[in-house]
Amino acid sequence: MKITCQSPVNIAVIKYWGKENVELNLPTNGSISVTLSMEHIKTITCVESNEQIKQDSLVLNGELVEIPGRMKLVIDKMRNIAIRCGNRQIKYKSESPLESPADPRHFITIKSRNTFPTAAGLASSASGYSCLVYCLSLLYHLDAYLTRTELSEFARLGSGSSCRSLFPGLVEWHLGDSSSTSVADSICDSWEDLDILVCIVKSEKKKVGSTVGMQQTVKSSALFKHRVEGMPAKLETMKRAIIAKDFETFANLTMADSNQFHAVCLDTFPPIIYLNEDSRWFIEFVHEYNRMAGETAVAYTFDAGPNPVLYMRSKYTGDVVRLLKQLVDVTKFKSIRDFNECVTIVNELGEN
Ligand code: ADP
Ligand code: DP6
Ligand code: CO
Repeated sequence: MKITCQSPVNIAVIKYWGKENVELNLPTNGSISVTLSMEHIKTITCVESNEQIKQDSLVLNGELVEIPGRMKLVIDKMRNIAIRCGNRQIKYKSESPLESPADPRHFITIKSRNTFPTAAGLASSASGYSCLVYCLSLLYHLDAYLTRTELSEFARLGSGSSCRSLFPGLVEWHLGDSSSTSVADSICDSWEDLDILVCIVKSEKKKVGSTVGMQQTVKSSALFKHRVEGMPAKLETMKRAIIAKDFETFANLTMADSNQFHAVCLDTFPPIIYLNEDSRWFIEFVHEYNRMAGETAVAYTFDAGPNPVLYMRSKYTGDVVRLLKQLVDVTKFKSIRDFNECVTIVNELGEN
């Protein structure tokens, strides 16, 4: 019994950084993100289950690796729910191509690959865990009992940001006040004249992973307390801007939040420095471009890495891409439109 799915990354415009509860992976603040299209950047995962498999195993990007503790937790939780669901009433139609659910007592093999750099600040944990959770939900027919929002709790336990990749478009991860309420939900699933450009300036693995980095911040940064206090109002303003398709407010808040997040990283002791010279070049480029355009045309945001993600009004996309290609040596530009996609079933693991 085998399920293969693909899942996109999402890039936060109001970022998650800080854990209130490490064990349950509950955040210190809510967050909002945009789920990208899967044209260039995605995770593809295949989960197989049968009684011949002798132990759980994980092959990540072609390499047999130990299953991380938090992945074990996700798998165990979903298996336990699957066992309990056996006695529950079915609420929805399962999207699973399997006629009957796999036996949750059998071991599984997981094969997963990312079509972009892993652990380089491009949210591989988000596409990775959302893909795994979706595969398992179809393997055990859990989608017949649980909503997408309820499933997002399992993704969050694996990696916080991944709960948002279960939805297309603009997505909120609610702060909540318990494991079952700290879950994701859609704000709106499209924004017609918004374009996104992912610029890969460096694809090396980052020195400080998000999980560890944010815990150091919570412990040592005074600025972080100020960030958390301002979050509820910021999230509200951002949500209103998204619903009104108010690009000006959306763009300025996105840039300000990215800057504050990186300021908080620098205020961590010892400091965490994700931005590099190229990143700073992009920041200046965007502000200069907006000044010349006479309006906010483009916004930047940086996750836990130096690679800029640009959000722009689509009427400027051609010009921005042309200019950037002349000015900087970036490895790749990924122009992303049609972002109303999210995790789906595919037939094959594929080759590239
Ligand atoms: P990123 O910025 O890429 O999200 P993180 O430090 O948050 O970096 O997470 C990287 C970790 O996420 C990896 O070390 C691995 O444990 C996990 N991960 C990445 N890709 C996958 C995948 N396809 N399937 C499962 N886990 C993955
Ligand atoms: C900067 O979701 O990778 O990308 O929950 O420990 O797996 P864990 O952390 P992770 O952190 C993402 C941090 C961020 C901002 C964001 O995506 O909101
Ligand atoms: Co991550």
